[in-house]
Amino acid sequence: MTAIPLSSARILLIISGGIAAYKSLELIRRLRDRGATVRVVMTAAAQQFISPLSAATLSGQPIRDGLFSLTDEAAIGHIELSRAADLVVVAPASANILARMATGLADDLATTLLLATDKPVLAAPAMNVRMWLHPATRRNFDHLKDDGVLFVGPESGPMACGEFGPGRMAEPPAIVDAIEQALAATTAWSGSPESRATDSALLSGRHIIVTSGPTYEPIDPVRFIGNRSSGRQGHAIAQAAIGAGARVTLITGPVSLSDPAGAEVIHVGSAREMREAVEAALPADAFIAAAAVADWRSESVAHQKIKKGANESATLRLVENPDILAEVSKKTTMRPSVVIGFAAETENVAANAKAKLQRKGCDLIIANSVAEGTSTFGGETNQVEVIDARSAESWPPMTKAEVADGIVRRVALELARRE
Ligand code: CTP
Repeated sequence: MTAIPLSSARILLIISGGIAAYKSLELIRRLRDRGATVRVVMTAAAQQFISPLSAATLSGQPIRDGLFSLTDEAAIGHIELSRAADLVVVAPASANILARMATGLADDLATTLLLATDKPVLAAPAMNVRMWLHPATRRNFDHLKDDGVLFVGPESGPMACGEFGPGRMAEPPAIVDAIEQALAATTAWSGSPESRATDSALLSGRHIIVTSGPTYEPIDPVRFIGNRSSGRQGHAIAQAAIGAGARVTLITGPVSLSDPAGAEVIHVGSAREMREAVEAALPADAFIAAAAVADWRSESVAHQKIKKGANESATLRLVENPDILAEVSKKTTMRPSVVIGFAAETENVAANAKAKLQRKGCDLIIANSVAEGTSTFGGETNQVEVIDARSAESWPPMTKAEVADGIVRRVALELARRE
Protein backbone atom coordinates (compact mmCIF):
# COMPACT_ATOMS: atom_id res chain seq x y z
CA MET A 1 0.00 0.00 0.00
CA THR A 2 2.96 2.33 -0.34
CA ALA A 3 2.96 4.96 -3.05
CA ILE A 4 4.83 4.28 -6.29
CA PRO A 5 7.94 6.49 -6.50
CA LEU A 6 8.63 8.13 -9.85
CA SER A 7 12.04 6.42 -9.88
CA SER A 8 10.40 3.03 -10.41
CA ALA A 9 7.18 4.11 -12.14
CA ARG A 10 6.10 2.78 -15.54
CA ILE A 11 4.53 5.57 -17.55
CA LEU A 12 2.56 5.00 -20.74
CA LEU A 13 2.80 8.30 -22.61
CA ILE A 14 0.27 8.93 -25.36
CA ILE A 15 1.26 11.78 -27.65
CA SER A 16 -1.59 13.20 -29.69
CA GLY A 17 -1.40 15.71 -32.52
CA GLY A 18 -0.54 19.32 -31.75
CA ILE A 19 2.29 21.80 -31.92
CA ALA A 20 2.94 21.17 -28.20
CA ALA A 21 4.08 17.63 -29.08
CA TYR A 22 7.66 18.91 -29.22
CA LYS A 23 7.46 19.51 -25.45
CA SER A 24 6.66 15.84 -24.95
CA LEU A 25 10.20 15.01 -25.99
CA GLU A 26 11.47 17.06 -23.07
CA LEU A 27 8.89 15.37 -20.85
CA ILE A 28 10.26 11.94 -21.83
CA ARG A 29 13.80 13.08 -21.05
CA ARG A 30 12.82 14.48 -17.64
CA LEU A 31 10.89 11.35 -16.68
CA ARG A 32 13.78 9.09 -17.67
CA ASP A 33 16.25 11.31 -15.79
CA ARG A 34 14.13 10.65 -12.70
CA GLY A 35 14.32 6.90 -13.26
CA ALA A 36 10.86 6.25 -14.73
CA THR A 37 10.28 3.83 -17.60
CA VAL A 38 8.44 5.52 -20.47
CA ARG A 39 6.60 3.70 -23.23
CA VAL A 40 5.35 5.95 -25.98
CA VAL A 41 2.33 5.62 -28.23
CA MET A 42 1.83 8.26 -30.93
CA THR A 43 -1.33 9.05 -32.84
CA ALA A 44 -1.08 9.49 -36.61
CA ALA A 45 -1.47 13.27 -36.17
CA ALA A 46 1.34 13.40 -33.59
CA GLN A 47 3.71 11.99 -36.20
CA GLN A 48 3.10 15.06 -38.34
CA PHE A 49 4.63 17.17 -35.57
CA ILE A 50 7.49 15.05 -34.19
CA SER A 51 9.25 12.01 -35.51
CA PRO A 52 8.73 8.58 -33.93
CA LEU A 53 12.49 8.15 -34.16
CA SER A 54 13.11 11.08 -31.74
CA ALA A 55 10.59 9.70 -29.25
CA ALA A 56 12.02 6.17 -29.57
CA THR A 57 15.57 7.41 -29.06
CA LEU A 58 14.68 9.45 -25.98
CA SER A 59 12.47 6.79 -24.41
CA GLY A 60 14.82 3.93 -25.25
CA GLN A 61 11.80 1.87 -26.36
CA PRO A 62 10.21 1.19 -29.74
CA ILE A 63 7.22 3.40 -30.52
CA ARG A 64 3.80 1.84 -30.87
CA ASP A 65 1.52 3.53 -33.34
CA GLY A 66 -0.79 0.97 -34.95
CA LEU A 67 -3.63 -1.14 -33.70
CA PHE A 68 -3.13 -3.82 -36.30
CA SER A 69 0.60 -4.40 -36.27
CA LEU A 70 1.02 -8.17 -36.08
CA THR A 71 4.63 -7.95 -34.94
CA ASP A 72 3.76 -5.56 -32.12
CA GLU A 73 0.73 -7.56 -31.09
CA ALA A 74 2.83 -10.72 -30.96
CA ALA A 75 5.34 -9.01 -28.63
CA ILE A 76 2.90 -7.21 -26.34
CA GLY A 77 -0.82 -6.91 -26.99
CA HIS A 78 -2.62 -3.62 -26.66
CA ILE A 79 -4.59 -4.68 -23.58
CA GLU A 80 -1.41 -5.70 -21.87
CA LEU A 81 0.27 -2.48 -22.95
CA SER A 82 -2.44 -0.44 -21.29
CA ARG A 83 -2.18 -2.37 -18.05
CA ALA A 84 1.57 -2.78 -17.78
CA ALA A 85 1.83 0.83 -16.66
CA ASP A 86 1.31 2.58 -13.36
CA LEU A 87 -0.09 5.70 -14.99
CA VAL A 88 -1.28 6.67 -18.46
CA VAL A 89 -0.33 10.22 -19.46
CA VAL A 90 -1.84 11.95 -22.49
CA ALA A 91 0.41 14.89 -23.41
CA PRO A 92 -0.43 16.85 -25.39
CA ALA A 93 -4.13 16.01 -25.16
CA SER A 94 -5.72 17.61 -28.23
CA ALA A 95 -9.39 18.65 -28.42
CA ASN A 96 -9.87 15.68 -30.71
CA ILE A 97 -8.48 13.03 -28.37
CA LEU A 98 -10.41 14.52 -25.41
CA ALA A 99 -13.60 14.23 -27.47
CA ARG A 100 -12.81 10.65 -28.41
CA MET A 101 -11.98 9.78 -24.79
CA ALA A 102 -15.19 11.41 -23.55
CA THR A 103 -17.32 9.36 -25.92
CA GLY A 104 -15.40 6.13 -25.37
CA LEU A 105 -14.24 5.75 -28.96
CA ALA A 106 -11.58 3.16 -29.70
CA ASP A 107 -10.68 3.94 -33.30
CA ASP A 108 -6.88 3.86 -33.04
CA LEU A 109 -4.26 2.40 -30.72
CA ALA A 110 -4.20 5.45 -28.40
CA THR A 111 -7.94 5.53 -27.74
CA THR A 112 -8.14 1.73 -27.54
CA LEU A 113 -5.50 1.79 -24.82
CA LEU A 114 -7.34 4.56 -22.99
CA LEU A 115 -10.54 2.54 -23.06
CA ALA A 116 -8.83 -0.70 -22.03
CA THR A 117 -6.74 0.65 -19.18
CA ASP A 118 -7.48 0.04 -15.53
CA LYS A 119 -4.91 2.62 -14.45
CA PRO A 120 -5.32 6.34 -13.62
CA VAL A 121 -5.15 8.66 -16.61
CA LEU A 122 -3.58 12.14 -16.48
CA ALA A 123 -4.18 14.49 -19.42
CA ALA A 124 -2.32 17.68 -20.32
CA PRO A 125 -4.64 19.52 -22.72
CA ALA A 126 -3.16 21.69 -25.46
CA MET A 127 -5.16 23.48 -28.10
CA ASN A 128 -6.17 26.83 -29.54
CA VAL A 129 -7.93 29.07 -27.02
CA ARG A 130 -11.24 29.06 -28.96
CA MET A 131 -11.18 25.28 -29.11
CA TRP A 132 -10.51 25.06 -25.37
CA LEU A 133 -13.37 27.47 -24.59
CA HIS A 134 -15.81 25.86 -27.02
CA PRO A 135 -18.88 24.42 -25.22
CA ALA A 136 -18.17 21.00 -26.75
CA THR A 137 -14.69 20.89 -25.22
CA ARG A 138 -16.03 22.20 -21.89
CA ARG A 139 -18.56 19.34 -21.94
CA ASN A 140 -15.92 16.75 -22.75
CA PHE A 141 -13.63 18.14 -20.05
CA ASP A 142 -16.38 18.00 -17.39
CA HIS A 143 -17.34 14.55 -18.51
CA LEU A 144 -13.79 13.24 -18.29
CA LYS A 145 -13.31 14.80 -14.87
CA ASP A 146 -16.46 13.00 -13.70
CA ASP A 147 -14.98 9.79 -15.12
CA GLY A 148 -11.95 10.32 -12.88
CA VAL A 149 -9.45 11.56 -15.48
CA LEU A 150 -6.86 13.84 -13.87
CA PHE A 151 -5.75 17.06 -15.56
CA VAL A 152 -2.73 19.30 -15.50
CA GLY A 153 -3.09 22.67 -17.25
CA PRO A 154 -3.70 24.12 -19.70
CA GLU A 155 -1.94 27.37 -19.00
CA SER A 156 -2.70 30.83 -20.34
CA GLY A 157 -0.32 32.71 -22.55
CA PRO A 158 0.60 33.53 -26.15
CA MET A 159 -0.11 30.62 -28.45
CA ALA A 160 1.65 29.29 -31.52
CA CYS A 161 -1.39 30.32 -33.58
CA GLY A 162 -0.92 33.98 -32.54
CA GLU A 163 -3.84 34.14 -30.12
CA PHE A 164 -3.65 34.63 -26.37
CA GLY A 165 -5.49 32.78 -23.60
CA PRO A 166 -5.88 29.39 -21.97
CA GLY A 167 -4.87 26.40 -24.07
CA ARG A 168 -1.09 26.15 -23.82
CA MET A 169 0.11 22.79 -22.61
CA ALA A 170 1.54 22.82 -19.06
CA GLU A 171 5.34 22.94 -19.07
CA PRO A 172 7.15 19.59 -18.72
CA PRO A 173 8.30 20.25 -15.08
CA ALA A 174 4.67 20.93 -14.07
CA ILE A 175 3.58 17.71 -15.83
CA VAL A 176 6.28 15.76 -13.99
CA ASP A 177 4.99 17.22 -10.68
CA ALA A 178 1.43 16.23 -11.57
CA ILE A 179 2.63 12.71 -12.48
CA GLU A 180 4.33 12.39 -9.08
CA GLN A 181 1.17 13.56 -7.32
CA ALA A 182 -0.97 11.14 -9.29
CA LEU A 183 1.40 8.28 -8.45
CA ALA A 184 1.43 9.24 -4.75
CA ALA A 185 -2.34 9.14 -4.60
CA THR A 186 -2.77 6.07 -6.82
CA THR A 187 -2.26 3.61 -4.00
CA ALA A 188 -4.33 5.78 -1.70
CA TRP A 189 -7.51 5.15 -3.60
CA SER A 190 -7.09 2.35 -6.08
CA GLY A 191 -4.47 -0.01 -4.63
CA SER A 192 -3.78 -3.39 -6.09
CA PRO A 193 -6.57 -5.81 -6.95
CA GLU A 194 -5.42 -7.93 -3.97
CA SER A 195 -5.75 -5.05 -1.50
CA ARG A 196 -9.17 -4.18 -2.93
CA ALA A 197 -10.35 -7.69 -2.16
CA THR A 198 -9.60 -7.15 1.52
CA ASP A 199 -11.19 -3.68 1.63
CA SER A 200 -14.34 -4.80 3.37
CA ALA A 201 -12.25 -6.21 6.21
CA LEU A 202 -9.67 -3.41 6.38
CA LEU A 203 -11.07 -1.97 9.62
CA SER A 204 -13.06 -4.89 10.93
CA GLY A 205 -13.22 -4.98 14.71
CA ARG A 206 -12.27 -1.28 14.93
CA HIS A 207 -14.30 1.55 16.38
CA ILE A 208 -13.95 4.85 14.53
CA ILE A 209 -15.43 8.15 15.72
CA VAL A 210 -15.99 10.80 13.04
CA THR A 211 -17.18 14.38 13.55
CA SER A 212 -18.82 16.12 10.61
CA GLY A 213 -20.62 19.28 9.53
CA PRO A 214 -20.67 22.71 11.14
CA THR A 215 -21.62 23.63 14.67
CA TYR A 216 -24.28 26.24 15.38
CA GLU A 217 -23.57 28.50 18.35
CA PRO A 218 -26.79 30.14 19.54
CA ILE A 219 -27.07 33.89 20.15
CA ASP A 220 -30.80 33.92 20.93
CA PRO A 221 -33.70 31.56 20.08
CA VAL A 222 -33.56 32.45 16.36
CA ARG A 223 -29.97 33.44 15.64
CA PHE A 224 -26.71 31.53 15.68
CA ILE A 225 -23.09 31.68 14.57
CA GLY A 226 -22.43 29.02 11.94
CA ASN A 227 -20.29 28.26 8.90
CA ARG A 228 -20.62 26.88 5.37
CA SER A 229 -19.51 23.28 6.04
CA SER A 230 -21.82 20.82 4.24
CA GLY A 231 -20.63 17.74 6.14
CA ARG A 232 -20.03 15.92 2.83
CA GLN A 233 -16.41 14.99 3.55
CA GLY A 234 -17.07 13.81 7.13
CA HIS A 235 -20.11 11.79 6.09
CA ALA A 236 -18.13 10.24 3.20
CA ILE A 237 -15.43 9.17 5.67
CA ALA A 238 -18.03 7.57 7.93
CA GLN A 239 -19.46 5.75 4.89
CA ALA A 240 -16.03 4.56 3.75
CA ALA A 241 -15.15 3.34 7.26
CA ILE A 242 -18.40 1.35 7.37
CA GLY A 243 -17.50 -0.09 3.96
CA ALA A 244 -14.14 -1.12 5.43
CA GLY A 245 -15.90 -3.07 8.19
CA ALA A 246 -15.53 -0.61 11.11
CA ARG A 247 -18.07 0.21 13.80
CA VAL A 248 -18.63 3.90 13.22
CA THR A 249 -19.98 6.62 15.49
CA LEU A 250 -20.74 9.72 13.45
CA ILE A 251 -21.27 12.89 15.47
CA THR A 252 -22.68 15.53 13.21
CA GLY A 253 -23.69 19.16 13.38
CA PRO A 254 -26.73 20.41 11.40
CA VAL A 255 -26.45 19.19 7.78
CA SER A 256 -28.91 18.43 5.01
CA LEU A 257 -27.42 14.99 4.32
CA SER A 258 -29.04 11.69 5.21
CA ASP A 259 -27.45 9.52 7.89
CA PRO A 260 -25.01 6.96 6.45
CA ALA A 261 -26.57 3.50 6.75
CA GLY A 262 -24.84 1.36 9.31
CA ALA A 263 -23.38 4.17 11.43
CA GLU A 264 -24.50 5.17 14.89
CA VAL A 265 -25.33 8.81 14.22
CA ILE A 266 -25.54 11.42 16.98
CA HIS A 267 -26.96 14.80 15.97
CA VAL A 268 -25.66 17.81 17.88
CA GLY A 269 -25.93 21.59 17.59
CA SER A 270 -23.10 23.38 19.35
CA ALA A 271 -19.41 22.68 19.87
CA ARG A 272 -19.99 21.87 23.51
CA GLU A 273 -22.65 19.31 22.61
CA MET A 274 -20.25 17.82 20.06
CA ARG A 275 -17.49 17.55 22.65
CA GLU A 276 -19.86 15.82 25.09
CA ALA A 277 -20.95 13.32 22.43
CA VAL A 278 -17.33 12.55 21.52
CA GLU A 279 -16.43 11.96 25.17
CA ALA A 280 -19.41 9.63 25.54
CA ALA A 281 -18.45 7.69 22.39
CA LEU A 282 -14.89 6.90 23.53
CA PRO A 283 -12.97 4.60 23.61
CA ALA A 284 -12.16 4.27 19.92
CA ASP A 285 -9.29 3.10 17.73
CA ALA A 286 -9.35 6.26 15.64
CA PHE A 287 -10.85 9.73 15.91
CA ILE A 288 -11.34 11.71 12.72
CA ALA A 289 -12.28 15.35 13.33
CA ALA A 290 -13.79 16.44 10.03
CA ALA A 291 -16.29 18.87 11.58
CA ALA A 292 -15.90 22.61 11.08
CA VAL A 293 -16.30 23.42 14.75
CA ALA A 294 -16.97 27.07 15.53
CA ASP A 295 -13.98 28.45 17.38
CA TRP A 296 -16.13 30.96 19.26
CA ARG A 297 -19.56 31.13 20.85
CA SER A 298 -21.58 33.96 22.28
CA GLU A 299 -20.71 34.53 25.92
CA SER A 300 -24.39 34.65 26.84
CA VAL A 301 -27.42 33.25 25.05
CA ALA A 302 -30.56 35.41 25.27
CA HIS A 303 -33.73 33.54 26.17
CA GLN A 304 -35.83 35.94 24.10
CA LYS A 305 -35.16 37.27 20.61
CA ILE A 306 -32.82 40.25 20.90
CA LYS A 307 -34.60 43.40 19.71
CA LYS A 308 -33.07 46.33 17.89
CA GLY A 309 -32.37 48.86 20.63
CA ALA A 310 -31.90 52.57 20.70
CA ASN A 311 -28.23 52.04 19.95
CA GLU A 312 -27.33 51.58 16.30
CA SER A 313 -24.48 49.24 17.07
CA ALA A 314 -24.67 46.09 19.11
CA THR A 315 -21.77 44.18 20.60
CA LEU A 316 -21.56 40.43 20.75
CA ARG A 317 -19.06 39.15 23.30
CA LEU A 318 -17.47 35.89 22.21
CA VAL A 319 -15.71 33.25 24.24
CA GLU A 320 -13.60 30.42 22.89
CA ASN A 321 -15.10 26.96 22.43
CA PRO A 322 -13.34 23.84 23.68
CA ASP A 323 -10.99 22.46 21.01
CA ILE A 324 -12.29 18.91 20.68
CA LEU A 325 -9.44 17.71 18.47
CA ALA A 326 -6.74 19.06 20.80
CA GLU A 327 -8.50 17.62 23.84
CA VAL A 328 -8.78 14.14 22.33
CA SER A 329 -5.17 14.27 21.05
CA LYS A 330 -3.82 15.18 24.46
CA LYS A 331 -5.74 12.61 26.47
CA THR A 332 -3.60 10.51 28.78
CA THR A 333 -6.20 7.76 29.09
CA MET A 334 -8.48 6.58 26.31
CA ARG A 335 -6.55 8.43 23.59
CA PRO A 336 -7.46 6.75 20.30
CA SER A 337 -4.38 5.21 18.62
CA VAL A 338 -4.87 7.42 15.56
CA VAL A 339 -6.14 10.99 15.79
CA ILE A 340 -6.72 12.88 12.56
CA GLY A 341 -7.59 16.55 12.16
CA PHE A 342 -8.56 18.68 9.22
CA ALA A 343 -7.17 22.08 8.36
CA ALA A 344 -9.16 24.42 6.19
CA GLU A 345 -6.78 27.15 5.13
CA THR A 346 -7.04 30.07 2.78
CA GLU A 347 -3.24 30.52 2.38
CA ASN A 348 0.09 28.75 3.11
CA VAL A 349 -1.84 25.49 3.31
CA ALA A 350 1.02 23.06 4.06
CA ALA A 351 2.92 25.32 6.49
CA ASN A 352 -0.17 26.25 8.49
CA ALA A 353 -1.29 22.63 8.59
CA LYS A 354 2.09 21.49 9.92
CA ALA A 355 1.90 24.10 12.70
CA LYS A 356 -1.65 22.93 13.49
CA LEU A 357 -0.46 19.29 13.70
CA GLN A 358 2.06 20.26 16.37
CA ARG A 359 -0.22 22.65 18.23
CA LYS A 360 -3.10 20.21 18.46
CA GLY A 361 -0.99 17.09 19.01
CA CYS A 362 -2.77 14.93 16.44
CA ASP A 363 -1.08 12.26 14.29
CA LEU A 364 -2.19 13.41 10.86
CA ILE A 365 -3.68 16.54 9.32
CA ILE A 366 -5.74 16.49 6.14
CA ALA A 367 -5.26 20.01 4.81
CA ASN A 368 -7.32 21.64 2.11
CA SER A 369 -7.59 25.04 0.60
CA VAL A 370 -10.87 26.86 1.08
CA ALA A 371 -9.60 29.95 -0.73
CA GLU A 372 -11.91 31.72 -3.15
CA GLY A 373 -12.36 29.71 -6.32
CA THR A 374 -12.07 26.28 -4.67
CA SER A 375 -15.16 24.13 -4.33
CA THR A 376 -14.22 22.54 -1.01
CA PHE A 377 -17.15 23.92 0.96
CA GLY A 378 -20.30 22.28 -0.31
CA GLY A 379 -18.69 20.92 -3.49
CA GLU A 380 -18.28 17.33 -4.62
CA THR A 381 -14.51 17.37 -4.94
CA ASN A 382 -11.60 18.04 -2.69
CA GLN A 383 -7.86 18.44 -3.15
CA VAL A 384 -5.97 17.61 0.01
CA GLU A 385 -2.50 17.40 1.44
CA VAL A 386 -1.91 14.67 3.98
CA ILE A 387 0.61 15.77 6.55
CA ASP A 388 2.24 13.90 9.41
CA ALA A 389 5.28 14.73 11.53
CA ARG A 390 7.68 13.44 8.87
CA SER A 391 6.08 13.85 5.49
CA ALA A 392 3.56 15.67 3.33
CA GLU A 393 1.69 14.02 0.46
CA SER A 394 -0.28 16.05 -2.04
CA TRP A 395 -3.21 14.15 -3.53
CA PRO A 396 -4.67 15.22 -6.88
CA PRO A 397 -8.25 16.54 -7.02
CA MET A 398 -10.64 13.69 -6.25
CA THR A 399 -14.23 13.24 -5.26
CA LYS A 400 -14.90 13.42 -1.54
CA ALA A 401 -15.72 9.70 -1.61
CA GLU A 402 -12.28 8.95 -3.07
CA VAL A 403 -10.58 11.16 -0.49
CA ALA A 404 -12.57 9.31 2.19
CA ASP A 405 -11.40 5.97 0.78
CA GLY A 406 -7.79 7.17 0.87
CA ILE A 407 -8.15 8.37 4.47
CA VAL A 408 -9.65 5.05 5.54
CA ARG A 409 -6.75 3.18 3.96
CA ARG A 410 -4.33 5.48 5.72
CA VAL A 411 -6.09 4.90 9.07
CA ALA A 412 -5.77 1.14 8.55
CA LEU A 413 -2.08 1.56 7.75
CA GLU A 414 -1.46 3.76 10.82
CA LEU A 415 -3.30 1.31 13.07
CA ALA A 416 -1.28 -1.60 11.68
CA ARG A 417 1.95 0.35 12.23
CA ARG A 418 1.10 0.83 15.89
CA GLU A 419 0.59 -2.84 16.58
N1 CTP B 1 -11.55 21.49 15.79
C1 CTP B 1 -12.13 20.95 16.95
N2 CTP B 1 -12.66 21.80 17.89
C2 CTP B 1 -12.61 23.14 17.72
C3 CTP B 1 -12.02 23.69 16.54
C4 CTP B 1 -11.51 22.82 15.62
O1 CTP B 1 -12.19 19.73 17.09
N3 CTP B 1 -13.12 23.92 18.65
C5 CTP B 1 -10.94 20.59 14.82
C6 CTP B 1 -11.65 20.53 13.51
O2 CTP B 1 -12.60 19.50 13.48
C7 CTP B 1 -10.49 20.26 12.55
C8 CTP B 1 -9.30 20.94 13.18
O3 CTP B 1 -9.68 21.09 14.55
O4 CTP B 1 -10.17 18.89 12.51
C9 CTP B 1 -8.89 22.26 12.60
O5 CTP B 1 -9.83 23.24 12.74
P1 CTP B 1 -9.58 24.76 12.26
O6 CTP B 1 -10.81 25.48 12.61
O7 CTP B 1 -9.11 24.77 10.86
O8 CTP B 1 -8.35 25.18 13.12
P2 CTP B 1 -8.22 26.24 14.23
O9 CTP B 1 -7.78 25.57 15.46
O10 CTP B 1 -9.49 26.99 14.30
O11 CTP B 1 -7.03 27.15 13.74
P3 CTP B 1 -7.10 28.48 12.82
O12 CTP B 1 -8.36 29.18 13.23
O13 CTP B 1 -5.86 29.13 13.14
O14 CTP B 1 -7.16 27.99 11.40
